[in-house]
Amino acid sequence: MNIAEIRKQAREKLQPFCRVCAVCDGKVCAGEVPGMGGAGTGSSFRANLEALARQRFVMKTIHSIKKADTSFTLWGVEFSMPIFAAPITGISYNMGGKLGEEEFSDIWVGGAAQAGSMGMTGDGADAVMYDGGLKAIQSAGGRGIPFVKPRGQEEIVKRIRQAEEAGAVAVGMDVDGAGLITMALKGQPVGPKTPGELAAVIKSTALPFVVKGIMSPDEAEIAAECGAAAIVVSNHGGRVLDSTPGAADVLQAIAEKVKGNVTIFCDGGVRSGGDVLKLLALGADGILVGRPLVVGAFGGGREGVALLLNRMGNEIVQAMLLTGTSDVRQVDSAILA
Ligand SMILES: Cc1cc2nc3c(=O)[nH]c(=O)nc-3n(C[C@H](O)[C@H](O)[C@H](O)COP(=O)(O)O)c2cc1C
Repeated sequence: MNIAEIRKQAREKLQPFCRVCAVCDGKVCAGEVPGMGGAGTGSSFRANLEALARQRFVMKTIHSIKKADTSFTLWGVEFSMPIFAAPITGISYNMGGKLGEEEFSDIWVGGAAQAGSMGMTGDGADAVMYDGGLKAIQSAGGRGIPFVKPRGQEEIVKRIRQAEEAGAVAVGMDVDGAGLITMALKGQPVGPKTPGELAAVIKSTALPFVVKGIMSPDEAEIAAECGAAAIVVSNHGGRVLDSTPGAADVLQAIAEKVKGNVTIFCDGGVRSGGDVLKLLALGADGILVGRPLVVGAFGGGREGVALLLNRMGNEIVQAMLLTGTSDVRQVDSAILA
């Protein structure tokens, strides 16, 4: 199996929901939510790629760094690289349903594990979304992180207990899912959390807790004060609010506030190992990738997801050697021009 075959298969299975463009930049799918695009004009999706494109490397080729170490350890689990499969749900209405929700989760989590990475899973109005993710995580020996929507407190705690039973590495909440009217229409309201409510949820579990959807230094600090072990700097792939900046634009200021206190993940528009290295240089500890891996899942199943992750892993090694970076855990911001 190679990338061209994966892309061809994926194009057939995902049409008309995703055209599997040469660069997945949110232009032709603008406004396609449900679907694979960004909300409204699609500007937040595009901003993620634009923000990354503005960053440039200082190329260095005369130095003594001959090996690049991409290994990464978090909460006692070892990973081959600091790149993870982002939580994705709603396969039927976002991608046309050629894969079932459970089948997709199994491919996602299993494929990521195969590459020495880890898959994250999401939550939605249909119970199979959260439960299917948990099932996949359990089958992977707990190697995965399920994300709960910002539901009512009791509903969240119930799902955290399920995550604990599945043996998940950590558990999280995509707080930026707060405006999802689709959930309310299906009788499962979501909404913003007060700091008190967030702290209570985090306190209810001994698992490391990840708050996903942070886009400002102030909220990063609040999440840290509430007891979060990690945050994900993310605009949800531009799917929840039009006109936000790109994640790479806000990351550095966030890292200046909370680096060292919480693990910082970042996602949005990451399309290559070079993009990963840019975000690490801006202060992230780990990176999540969404849409490109969906192409891997539909085009090549577990192998496809693993192949695309491994390709990014190889690209990051090349970018590290050409910027004089020896270790993904210590990336100097000075590698950016
Ligand atoms: C079709 C689709 C479904 C998604 N579902 C979820 C979800 O259920 N929970 C969640 O936290 N994020 C969800 N996301 C957001 C991703 O986790 C991630 O933040 C985003 O895709 C990263 O941007 P990228 O796709 O440009 O890499 C979804 C994204 C897409 C494209």
